[in-house]
Amino acid sequence: MKFIIDDANIAKVKEIWDLYPCDGVTTNPSILAKSGRNPYEVLSELREIVGKDGELHVQVVSKDAEGMIKEAGVIREKLGENTFVKIPTTPQGLKAMKTLAPQGVNITATAIYTPMQAFLAAKAGAKYTAPYINRIDNFGYNGVQVAMDIQDIFENNNLPCEVLAASFKNSQQVLELTKYGIGAATIGCEVIENLIRNKAIDAAIDVFNSDFASITGEGKTMADC
Ligand code: G3P
Repeated sequence: MKFIIDDANIAKVKEIWDLYPCDGVTTNPSILAKSGRNPYEVLSELREIVGKDGELHVQVVSKDAEGMIKEAGVIREKLGENTFVKIPTTPQGLKAMKTLAPQGVNITATAIYTPMQAFLAAKAGAKYTAPYINRIDNFGYNGVQVAMDIQDIFENNNLPCEVLAASFKNSQQVLELTKYGIGAATIGCEVIENLIRNKAIDAAIDVFNSDFASITGEGKTMADC
């Protein structure tokens, strides 16, 4: 499973990128709005963090296919041709995907709430489809199950598309999809930090360190004793 950061807070993304085994960064208009800055300024800094070959996902805001296609061109011109263009999975979005995919544009189909949306996006040439796990849960359905169903649909129909599960609110949702071997998960910084936040880990390390200090003295490590 690819492990992607769903955030555009530059300082926080840098910190998470430095510590965790990440594969890329996803954004959406709401995430970019939190910065209060010009979107391309923020996105260029994110591009620098992930590197020229890293995955960067950027969403279009047009509602019609023509506008989406135009935005895709500008996004790729400014941020690199390998940038994933996130396109909402509406009828107009599918039309844009059908036009852009044969041109070699990396497409992430987004705003996915149902397996049928994901199936159609994959047929239209998307490389990723992004079901919104927690938002689906909030409707009273099971977001994790929807993501699993989508992965099964892709396998059963030989569709070369991956699930990029998004909208996580807790570690359990991430763990369930990791166990299932979902293609990718994009997760906000706070949820990432909670994945391995555990006082038992800190307590175990403290005991190891104080035992070690009892034979070497305080402040020594395996590098200098
Ligand atoms: O980019 C879409 C997705 O990550 C939304 O997440 O937390 O706003 O439901 P959230």
